Amino acid sequence: MGDPVMIAQRMPYVLEMEPGKYYWCRCGRSKTQPFCDGSHTGTEHSPVEVEFTEKK
Ligand code: FES
Repeated sequence: MGDPVMIAQRMPYVLEMEPGKYYWCRCGRSKTQPFCDGSHTGTEHSPVEVEFTEKK
């Protein structure tokens, strides 16, 4: 069955992002949503790497 995914928010996170590499939390446990803060440690989940080449 595995570790449950927690739902952090049921609405989109609208952010202005500078170019760079980011790690999106897909486990729902991070206190710095929508980004990974390492709270997935010990679960089967890992963040998703996202890279922006320009401001979005
Ligand atoms: S804290 Fe959720 S993926 Fe890292």
